Amino acid sequence: MTELLEVRDLVKHFPVRSGLFRAADALKAVDGISFSIGVGQTLGLVGESGCGKSTTGRLVMRLLDPTSGSIRLAGEEIGALRGAALQEYRRRVQIVFQNPASALNPRQSVGTAIAAPLLAQGITPPGGVKARVRDLMDRVGLRPDHYNRFPHEFSGGQKQRVGIARALALDPRLIVCDEPVSALDVSVQAQVINLLQDIQQETGVAYLFISHDLSVVRHFADQVAVMYLGHLAEHGPTSDVFAAPKHPYTRALLSAVPSPSPGADRSGRIRLAGDLPSPSDPPSGCVFRTRCPLYAALGEERQRLCREQAPASVSGAACHHVAASALAE
Ligand SMILES: Nc1ncnc2c1ncn2[C@@H]1O[C@H](COP(=O)(O)OP(=O)(O)OP(=O)(O)O)[C@@H](O)[C@H]1O
Ligand code: SF4
Ligand SMILES: [Mg+2]
Repeated sequence: MTELLEVRDLVKHFPVRSGLFRAADALKAVDGISFSIGVGQTLGLVGESGCGKSTTGRLVMRLLDPTSGSIRLAGEEIGALRGAALQEYRRRVQIVFQNPASALNPRQSVGTAIAAPLLAQGITPPGGVKARVRDLMDRVGLRPDHYNRFPHEFSGGQKQRVGIARALALDPRLIVCDEPVSALDVSVQAQVINLLQDIQQETGVAYLFISHDLSVVRHFADQVAVMYLGHLAEHGPTSDVFAAPKHPYTRALLSAVPSPSPGADRSGRIRLAGDLPSPSDPPSGCVFRTRCPLYAALGEERQRLCREQAPASVSGAACHHVAASALAE
């Protein structure tokens, strides 16, 4: 498989002022993550609020500069792009936001909103901008004759379709979808996901699909990456991760996903103890250890390893005791 996007050891620390004049500590929003996305593939990036998903998306969009690490699109390091090459990157990588309403200007017609990326890049498609916008509206299931309507005349799902049409205007290779269905009714979520899937099949666009909801990525993503406090806890093909999660955090998250069969036994739900630690002061060693159900069941020697050493990823799971995790249930 050809890799389109390759992210290696990506780190983003935001400075935080802890004293009056002291810019001492860092908020470790993203702290050394690696993944790749193949051409026409989807990676689902999941995790609790504040774990660093949007920061990762913004780094990939080059809306933020990383503290360290590498992001390559089609083999090219994006941090090195300048001038025309950067403009070309901005064409090839687009974003769809969580809240379609706030992403649209209420005083701008939806046709104008969809045309904006073409105009900003100075591109006139064959047949003209308006014809291209009408095609895009048709493609995402909006009526082309609604070109001159305003966002308030559209439902939430329709506004998100406008956001998707705008992201498609420049024929991108990759779209960062940052919680694109979280603000929508459950019935509309499936329609928007189906639309994204159809578009991927037709165009071969790849998605970095950010969600806090594992059930949303389950039938959609080729790979899933589970993020916790700036780190990847687990990463692998979606079917493998869902069938046999290895990391104690993934196991806990999956145990809370509603079962497709009504009346299924929910007694297997794993509840995580304590609060999410602050990314400005993460635990030593394994960042998950303060809430890890397995840690509490380990002997002193094994616990020491969790406290003292950050676990490397072994077959997709960043846990020193993956084998013990599998036996724990
Ligand atoms: N520009 C910034 N300056 C300082 N801290 C930031 C900045 N952007 C994000 N953070 C912090 O980085 C951490 C990760 O934030 P991020 O928005 O990436 O999380 P998230 O996983 O997308 O969460 P959510 O599910 O709530 O959208 C949070 O602690 C957040 O407060
Ligand atoms: S390394 Fe230790 S604390 Fe971390 S997930 Fe594994 S068992 Fe839990
Ligand atoms: Mg976010």
